[in-house]
Amino acid sequence: MELRKRPRRLRTDPIVRKMVRETRMDPSSLVYPMFVTEGTNQKEEIPSMPGQYRYSTDCMGEKLQSLMASGVHSILLFGIPQHKDETGSGAYDPDGIIQRALRRIKEDFPQMYVMTDLCMCEYTSHGHCGILCGNDVDNDKTLEYLAKIAVSQAQAGADLIAPSDMMDGRVAAIRKALDDHGFLNIPIMAYSAKYASAFYGPFRDAADSAPAFGDRKTYQMDYHNRLEAYKEVFQDVEEGADLVMVKPAMAYGDLIREIRNNVNVPVAAYSVSGEYAMIKAAAAAGWIQEEPAMLEAAVCAYRAGADIYISYFAQQLAEAMKEGKIG
Ligand code: PBG
Repeated sequence: MELRKRPRRLRTDPIVRKMVRETRMDPSSLVYPMFVTEGTNQKEEIPSMPGQYRYSTDCMGEKLQSLMASGVHSILLFGIPQHKDETGSGAYDPDGIIQRALRRIKEDFPQMYVMTDLCMCEYTSHGHCGILCGNDVDNDKTLEYLAKIAVSQAQAGADLIAPSDMMDGRVAAIRKALDDHGFLNIPIMAYSAKYASAFYGPFRDAADSAPAFGDRKTYQMDYHNRLEAYKEVFQDVEEGADLVMVKPAMAYGDLIREIRNNVNVPVAAYSVSGEYAMIKAAAAAGWIQEEPAMLEAAVCAYRAGADIYISYFAQQLAEAMKEGKIG
């Protein structure tokens, strides 16, 4: 048969397949989310996230060491405090869990780039991401607290601040507070297009941060919407976000691509707890193969346009990249 174009020609051999790959990636683009908890000598597995742990500050070292050995040099840190109250005061306590963890990591592993999630839901007794007024989160009041928490994280050694609260105007408020305190060079990675998602379920177990009443739909985005993602992203960039994020990743590839095509800052995709849990659970049941599924999910997020990939599989992905399985 006379066929001028035979796409299979470039698939005949592994060498040529790899040569013509359109998506290339490197472990330097990976970020590993990590949970720190109070107490000592704790390494507690998270039931809905097998293979993920809550570490006390004295037990983080081994994991940090092995991450770096695998080529993962950046973590996104989440604090799980013992004490919670109405105003989430643990989040800006100079001796709070995240501040202590930051000081410890920066002392023991100064080469590790530490991003901090900036939100109040792990610290508030009601589990919402801000200060309540009746049953609603008071946006402008919350900004004052977010600014305070950001400064406190920076003072404890955070390299980058990642607000995940979805309040309006938070990037501007945080930028101003950081600048006023001399932290001119600490970047902000805004969770800009953050959707109200069922895929955060396992995280809320991990961080004990489920809202005590209602849901997060008055601040996180409605997943029916696409243009609204532009509104959020453009506003955050305008307010000074250095990087923006799309979250979740797996079902949101269209948005990763659209945002990548329309902003001139790096775009991060966060493959969230539910994405991890689904792969782990299906693999444990023998229904899918864990490694190929993990690799495919990651490559597809990069193909969609992610510059940075935040994943609970970061370490395995880094190993796979080094072994040439992807990238
Ligand atoms: C805090 C926060 C959440 C996640 C990251 N930061 C939970 C939420 O918004 O309810 C989710 C991460 C994940 O599911 O892996 N607001």
